[in-house]
Amino acid sequence: MSTVLVTGSTGLIGSESVRFFSDKEDNIVGIDNDMRSRFFGPNASTKWNRDRLIEEIPNYHHLDEDIRDEKAMEKIFSDYGSDLKLIIHAAAQPSHDWAAKEPFTDFTVNANGTLMLLEMTRQYCPEAVFIFTSTNKVYGDAPNNLPLVELETRWELDGSHPYAAEGIDESMSIDQCKHSLFGASKVAADVLVQEYGRYFGMKTTTFRGGCLTGPGHSGTELHGFLAYLMKCAITGDQYTVFGYKGKQVRDNIHSYDLVNMLWHFYQNPRSAEVYNAGGSRYSNCSMLEAIEKCEKITGKKMNWSYSEQNRIGDHIWWISDVSKFKNHYPDWHYQYNIDDILKQIYEGIKSRI
Ligand SMILES: NC(=O)c1ccc[n+]([C@@H]2O[C@H](COP(=O)([O-])OP(=O)(O)OC[C@H]3O[C@@H](n4cnc5c(N)ncnc54)[C@H](O)[C@@H]3O)[C@@H](O)[C@H]2O)c1
Repeated sequence: MSTVLVTGSTGLIGSESVRFFSDKEDNIVGIDNDMRSRFFGPNASTKWNRDRLIEEIPNYHHLDEDIRDEKAMEKIFSDYGSDLKLIIHAAAQPSHDWAAKEPFTDFTVNANGTLMLLEMTRQYCPEAVFIFTSTNKVYGDAPNNLPLVELETRWELDGSHPYAAEGIDESMSIDQCKHSLFGASKVAADVLVQEYGRYFGMKTTTFRGGCLTGPGHSGTELHGFLAYLMKCAITGDQYTVFGYKGKQVRDNIHSYDLVNMLWHFYQNPRSAEVYNAGGSRYSNCSMLEAIEKCEKITGKKMNWSYSEQNRIGDHIWWISDVSKFKNHYPDWHYQYNIDDILKQIYEGIKSRI
């Protein structure tokens, strides 16, 4: 039985992966212990998503385990062995601010947890494709040194810069800049994933996400910005914009479009690859633009305020250049732009409230 193992299977990317691959392979095994609710509180719990997956996907098997638990991981990998054709590793502690509160927990989940899964893959199913969902935060605050110009609603890169046309590509250095502890634990994981490809010849890849989003996100103040923004737009809860005049730009990719990238990679895998993966020039917005879009969709003014203090590790302007991936996998295309994404998030939250 060809089996896909998804870690963080009830989170945004994990659950999208479970759904996407459930009609492509025989068996989908998901690992998630709802640690998101420990990080961000009960409102961020992904249990609702777990229950839906168990109910709706007949070939989904859920395992309520911690990826740091060596005995539990050994059991899972030895049970499935070479049936495991694909590992999608999406379990993580995903927030800058939270990482500073509990550095050991952040590092053991993000770095040690990734090493655990790589090593289990090497021992029990070395032929499997191993996909890691990394982050653009591995570039630390280096993007903030780019020459930016201020426009009415957003920061924009100076038009003469090589990154201006398509966005930031994989050539940007990840070294000698401020990452936050979260960024540092993700760098450790990202480099380990590359190393298992280069050193051991395994089919590993790291997708460095911009903002990954979609209706499956359990948005919370510390993570899942569009989902949380829309939640506040609907409920009237107060939303705080941190720094940069609210003109910071993020690119946003729908979880479906990202997982479709993973699918293209899986069908024709490479070794030790690194891809920037975000909404690119196709799908992006500043905070101010996102607020305006939410207000249009809900038909209500948002209750938001501004704090001068920016979040440590926040990018002022980030647009992913996805040309490298598109060159390797020319059949992949986006399906959802920023307006489609926001409408879907709106409908998703409405149906859950
Ligand atoms: N969402 C974004 O904007 C974004 C951007 C860039 C990169 N990423 C990366 O993509 C990946 C997926 O992100 P997401 O948005 O789906 O996050 P998410 O928080 O929605 O999902 C992660 C899941 O992992 C689970 N988990 C955490 N620690 C665990 C552990 N020790 N054992 C088992 N399960 C555990 C959580 O309960 C959660 O359900 C992460 O690696 C994240 O860093 C996300």
